[in-house]
Amino acid sequence: MKVPFVSLNVMHQEIHTELTEAFQSVLNANNYIMGAEWDRFQKDFANFCGVSFAVGCGNGLDALYLVLKAMEIGEGDEVIVPSNTFIATALAVSYTGATPVFVEPNINTYTIDPSLIEEKISDKTKAIIAVHLYGRCADMDAINQIAKVHGLKVIEDAAQAHGAVYKGKKAGSLGDAAGFSFYPGKNLARSEMLAW
Ligand SMILES: Cc1ncc(COP(=O)(O)O)c(C=O)c1O
Repeated sequence: MKVPFVSLNVMHQEIHTELTEAFQSVLNANNYIMGAEWDRFQKDFANFCGVSFAVGCGNGLDALYLVLKAMEIGEGDEVIVPSNTFIATALAVSYTGATPVFVEPNINTYTIDPSLIEEKISDKTKAIIAVHLYGRCADMDAINQIAKVHGLKVIEDAAQAHGAVYKGKKAGSLGDAAGFSFYPGKNLARSEMLAW
């Protein structure tokens, strides 16, 4: 039996009319870059996450990179990242010229183990990137507490966590800033399943 690696057909069938109408409306407007749809999506997604602003950009890696740049993180700085994540988390850091410093996961949750973070903090550390993996949020209370004590920024890599909920708050609203991915294989359309 052949099992397709990623097949979006079943999901697309459910919302086929809605999708076709949306594609058609963009086509009719001849407006493919930014524009009204982009603007509306930024507002809707910010609302969905319970935050004040969202900014659409090229992809999840760019989102994380731009967050780090906005925080003026670069050459000579260090950023704590989980060792168990997609490579883009660490690439966002190295693209800025900063150094990713890896921390092992908690063996029960597979997300970054907060008890191992402090030993990796140095006077060069500027931020912690918490990755919400497979829709499971990282231990944000513990991570935010460590960040507060050491004066660090907290960035959520929420590329796999649209709609995930942590103690009543949505992923994307749990740190100083967050990056999401809308790569077609991401768990976007089934986000209600991600509220652990
Ligand atoms: C945890 C994580 N971070 C970042 C990314 C990067 O997202 P994108 O593929 O949209 O650049 C991904 C996507 O695979 C991811 O799973």
